[in-house]
Amino acid sequence: MRRALAIALVLLSASCTNGDGAVTATTGVTEATSPSFTPGAPGIGDDYYPSLGNGGYDVQHYRIDLAYEEDGSVGAGVAIDAVATQNLSGFNLDFAGWSISGLQVDGTEVPFSRDGEELVITGVAIADGDEFRVAINYSGTPAPYESAALPFPIGWFDGPNGEQFVAAEPDAAHSWFPCNDHPLDKATFTFAVRGPAGYGTAANGERVLNDGDDAGSASKDGGVASQWEMTSPMATYLATVALGRGWQVVADPVSTEAAGIEVRNFLPADLSEDPPAALERTGEMIRTLEAAFGPYPFSRYGIAVVDGFPSALENQTLSLFGRQMVDAPFFEYVLVHELAHQWFGDSVSLARWSDIWLNEGFATYAEMLWVEHLHGSAAYREEVANRTQAARIAGYGPPGTPPPDDLFNGSVYQRGGLLLAALRDEIGDDAFFTTLRVYSDRFADANATTQDFIALAEEVAGRDLGVFFDVWLYGDELPEG
Ligand code: TRP
Ligand code: ZN
Repeated sequence: MRRALAIALVLLSASCTNGDGAVTATTGVTEATSPSFTPGAPGIGDDYYPSLGNGGYDVQHYRIDLAYEEDGSVGAGVAIDAVATQNLSGFNLDFAGWSISGLQVDGTEVPFSRDGEELVITGVAIADGDEFRVAINYSGTPAPYESAALPFPIGWFDGPNGEQFVAAEPDAAHSWFPCNDHPLDKATFTFAVRGPAGYGTAANGERVLNDGDDAGSASKDGGVASQWEMTSPMATYLATVALGRGWQVVADPVSTEAAGIEVRNFLPADLSEDPPAALERTGEMIRTLEAAFGPYPFSRYGIAVVDGFPSALENQTLSLFGRQMVDAPFFEYVLVHELAHQWFGDSVSLARWSDIWLNEGFATYAEMLWVEHLHGSAAYREEVANRTQAARIAGYGPPGTPPPDDLFNGSVYQRGGLLLAALRDEIGDDAFFTTLRVYSDRFADANATTQDFIALAEEVAGRDLGVFFDVWLYGDELPEG
């Protein structure tokens, strides 16, 4: 869903109106052969990863049906509801691996081919502005994905206890479902997830059905299933499913009470019985970040904890945590970091991957705000000073131009976070927090660029900040404090 789309459609429909005010019909097979029906672009125009995403349509909703079998295989189907943004004779989806057993557009089998990671659909005639549905059935054994941006495989993970889960940022969503794989095309999602008997299943959003609970036992074919609705627009890379034998969705009443939104976690058996103490501070963290950033942007939150994952990832409404993160002394800070991404990254999403500091710098700055919340402003100052010193020793390059093959480098986190600390000193607390709150409100459920953020900070502060941002984002050296 792109906000600019509505405006574009108004302009286009105006140009289709003849002198009598009647709208010219633009559907039909004949037009498909006319030059005005062309294939959608194979990329959405990302300067770092040009093959990601596609042009010519705007996805509204994905429905993903997925059944994981004990032998490691997965049978899946996706239904994609989209709106054409040009007259389409064909279009691409991003998709890597798997085997496709059927593909229909509006209920009709259409020709398709696979060219690397592009799924190329032809033989359609879809008029600009028309809605259409793509239904694809596929199956296979999920495999890790070699990301263009990271030095380790991402995508689908097969954990040491048989748990299955997805960590896709930035480019691995299309390794588990066919999609328009770029945060510029956000959409709502439905997930129906089925696992073998004894498995717990989870996905983003609100759980609306749970066979296991409802029936008190396994469903007809011996498996268990749950259905989840993500009703806020979501970038494809934030979509996740998680399955594990003995895993459970566990309510956190303490956090739910404190936050005023439902907090629930997806935990393995030992943590279900005895959740880590820091986890129950989730509600307090939501309240603390709301004071700085404005209202929490979604109706649910929680984390999924898995083994065999070395990191943490801010999947929308259900961040993913490796077990070693949960057991680490700094778990609390990683919790704050992933939570902050719900505002910055998930609700306000990137328009291009090169702006990744807008995600990681903001989430890292939230860690500094948590220090301030817990220990006061002197401790906050000390935290900023310590991180500045560490950043100087590390010699980070400019966070505004991260290397495409090492997108999540230390600079986008630490120099990005320190930029915000410096901006706060530069324009004062009032202007700084107003900027953050207006930013998270104005670009909620949409996309923003570095330039959008700079323009807003200048608007709120009432002065030019060009030099400030230039040296912080693009200068070789960390600016003097
Ligand atoms: N965004 C993650 C964070 O919170 C980092 C990250 C990006 C990541 N891609 C990933 C972690 C893939 C695990 C797997 O900092
Ligand atoms: Zn992060």
